[in-house]
Amino acid sequence: MRILAIESSCDETAAAVVEDGETILSSVVASQMFTHGKYGGVVPELASREHLRAIVPVVREALERAVTPFAGLAAIAVTQGPGLVGSLLVGLTYAKSLSFATGVPLIAVNHIEGHIHAVILESRRDGNPIEFPALALVASGGHTHLFEVREGYRYRLLGKTRDDAAGEAFDKVAKLLGFGYPGGPVIDRLAPHGDPKAVRFTFAKMKGNALDFSFSGLKTAVLRWVESRDMEAEIAARRALVNRNPTPFTEQWLEITPKETLDLLASFQHAVIRELLTRASASAEACGARSVIISGGVACNSGLRGAARTGEFAWPVYFPSPALSTDNAAMIAAAAFPKLKRGEFAALDIPALANLSLTSN
Ligand code: KG4
Ligand code: ZN
Repeated sequence: MRILAIESSCDETAAAVVEDGETILSSVVASQMFTHGKYGGVVPELASREHLRAIVPVVREALERAVTPFAGLAAIAVTQGPGLVGSLLVGLTYAKSLSFATGVPLIAVNHIEGHIHAVILESRRDGNPIEFPALALVASGGHTHLFEVREGYRYRLLGKTRDDAAGEAFDKVAKLLGFGYPGGPVIDRLAPHGDPKAVRFTFAKMKGNALDFSFSGLKTAVLRWVESRDMEAEIAARRALVNRNPTPFTEQWLEITPKETLDLLASFQHAVIRELLTRASASAEACGARSVIISGGVACNSGLRGAARTGEFAWPVYFPSPALSTDNAAMIAAAAFPKLKRGEFAALDIPALANLSLTSN
């Protein structure tokens, strides 16, 4: 059973054809990184416009690469939310139109559930299925959530960020320091060149749910650190480098980044990883998890992968391959497959929901 999936919730236009929820026949992702790079973050209006440009060729390419005509599809899956409403609308409207024109049923998918299924797909395909209940940490540019995942893909939210998402913290710190957008990949590459213990960041104790995250204090601490030093020249040099070349090599960054700044990056990344893993451990313990899933763009982070695989982290941990960590449509098809089996189809008048939550279903 083949599913065509479409994903357009943020700044990636993606389409994929996946067979039986685990065999990826095609996965096409058109990134808008170069459009948003110079603004230091995603500009919603530009994102919708780029989705409009990309949606038809991206879907066509996914179907062509999978050698699958519409008649060979069991369903068309699409991200309904959460995300930027103007971006979601492009994918959702196109998916509805295709469903209406071809008679292939529509399945609505929650983007966060997609991130979780990226890991479930690969673990099943590789013959190493995840044991439930599992604890899922989804950390990306828009979300930092902890879910208990029970057998049958039922979800319970245990904690989430109260302010910035983890990826957003990477992006804002990178922007502040002149490293361009997105911030995660460049900080990841430069952090090993600095000392993670050089700058001590402490997290304020929060009232309420102990499993919630907060990253805005860390971002402010970095801002204060920068303001208390004379860093204007090096920041300007990096901004000039990104303007000339949106994807500089690590060596080019190292040439214009002093050791003290590398120490700051390493310490910042270390603090984010500690915050993520501390709350993931506490949540896994709270729900009696037998395994831990870490997904979303931040799951690409090599420091996070390394730290989660040390003996200190007590659970078997599953990460998606880097291509399935950031936004893609294969994960949306994978999340749609159990819904297809349950006959859980969507009406053609469903709205795009910017704040769609993932609860038990
Ligand atoms: O999942 P994703 O592609 O889109 C959202 O749903 O937001 O995640 C993008 C986010 C960005 O904030 C980016 O900086 C972060 O993931 N990211 C990383 C890394 N690669 C991407 N953060 C830390 N380390 C990385 N290697
Ligand atoms: Zn995402």
